[in-house]
Amino acid sequence: MNSVTSSTSHDDTATGAASDDPGFDFGGATFDLQDPDDREILRFILSQALYGEATGVYCGKSLFAARSLEAAQFYVRQARQELGHLKLFADIMRELELEPQDGHWALKLLSTHNNYYPLKVLMEHAIGEGMVLDVFKEVLLQTLPDSDPRVGPIKKKLRVICREEEEHVAWGEKETARILSEKPYLKPAFFGLVELQLALMPALVHRFGKGFERHPVLKQLPEFLRYVEARVRRQGKRLGYVPDIQASTLRRAASVGMGLALLARSQLSRSKSKLEKTYLRELGFEH
Ligand SMILES: [Fe+2]
Ligand SMILES: [Fe+2]
Repeated sequence: MNSVTSSTSHDDTATGAASDDPGFDFGGATFDLQDPDDREILRFILSQALYGEATGVYCGKSLFAARSLEAAQFYVRQARQELGHLKLFADIMRELELEPQDGHWALKLLSTHNNYYPLKVLMEHAIGEGMVLDVFKEVLLQTLPDSDPRVGPIKKKLRVICREEEEHVAWGEKETARILSEKPYLKPAFFGLVELQLALMPALVHRFGKGFERHPVLKQLPEFLRYVEARVRRQGKRLGYVPDIQASTLRRAASVGMGLALLARSQLSRSKSKLEKTYLRELGFEH
């Protein structure tokens, strides 16, 4: 079965990033860990995971600029978790005897740190880590073959990573909703940025062109991309920045323009510390 309907064959105990997420079902299709071509694809995917986890050190900047005690506590916890993930993915690559390669340009672009907090929580946490979770939970947990004795312990590690990534997405969603309730004028720009992030996504799977249609997993990637796109749009509707009715081409283009303008302005944003100014209120000494 190859569908975006509720999956009964899901091999994961992690819950969805959101309760409205039906999951994607690869219908039992798996990679062959003995096949050199399949190993090259897994090497690429795991290398991107490794690069993405290395960007976990960006939490240091987020901690420095944390606006509240709650945010500071989240970023300390996230930093510890992301560095843990980095080591777990390194272990997974060693167990599978795969040599890491450099991160893809599109991934580097997607995972760039943004000093402007509203864009950081939207693009890095809610959307970026949401997509990361799609790959870990929907692709890796389903398509690594259980017939290989190395896969059981690897999936155990992946489930831990997925549960923690869900926390990061949940933080991004909570903060995005809060920011939009305070600054609803950001909604069109956020919508435009979602469109841009979705447009970059296919670049990451283009390299799988050869033998694409015959491979049990790869031939499902176009449908998987549509699943991710639909999930990201549902998430945006839930949080209020994706319009409920389909936007016209003109409105979409205008939103992309606003998104790009916001992105450009955000580059001027300086990282400033705040907690040393707000700690008394944050600790409940001032009312
Ligand atoms: Fe991570
Ligand atoms: Fe994360």
